[in-house]
Amino acid sequence: MKILVLNGPNLNLLGTREPEIYGTETLADIEAEMKALYHEVEIEFRQSNSEAELITWIGETRGMFDGIIINPAALTHTSLGLYDALKAVADVVPAVEVHLSNTHAREEIRHKSLTAAACIGQLMGFQGFGYTLALRALVQKLSS
Ligand code: DQA
Repeated sequence: MKILVLNGPNLNLLGTREPEIYGTETLADIEAEMKALYHEVEIEFRQSNSEAELITWIGETRGMFDGIIINPAALTHTSLGLYDALKAVADVVPAVEVHLSNTHAREEIRHKSLTAAACIGQLMGFQGFGYTLALRALVQKLSS
């Protein structure tokens, strides 16, 4: 089983970026935790500050990956293009959306996710731990 983990804008700054909201784990820490969870699951972990690059990567997953875990970061709230990309592959590559913070408990502009409707589920509010929870949920779904 092969899972693509995508991280959107500014998530490269995790560790030092508003740690009271996002925690102190770096993206590399989260990647290591995910890779340690299952021996039989291959994890490809990527980050981009570019919406276009994320859209391209999603479009290339058909036949290459079994599932996607995505934190679209700020693009969650703005990107119809990311929603369309996730929908375009959803028939064979299901996605789970993850957020470090509970966006519903933050500014109103963060309450709406454009991308969540293209995903099979969403997990938020558990900082870096949410990524391994999302992985467990996706692997269970793919195995059932
Ligand atoms: C985030 C929440 C978004 O609102 C924000 O723009 C981010 C991170 C999260 O993981 O909590 O960059 O996706």
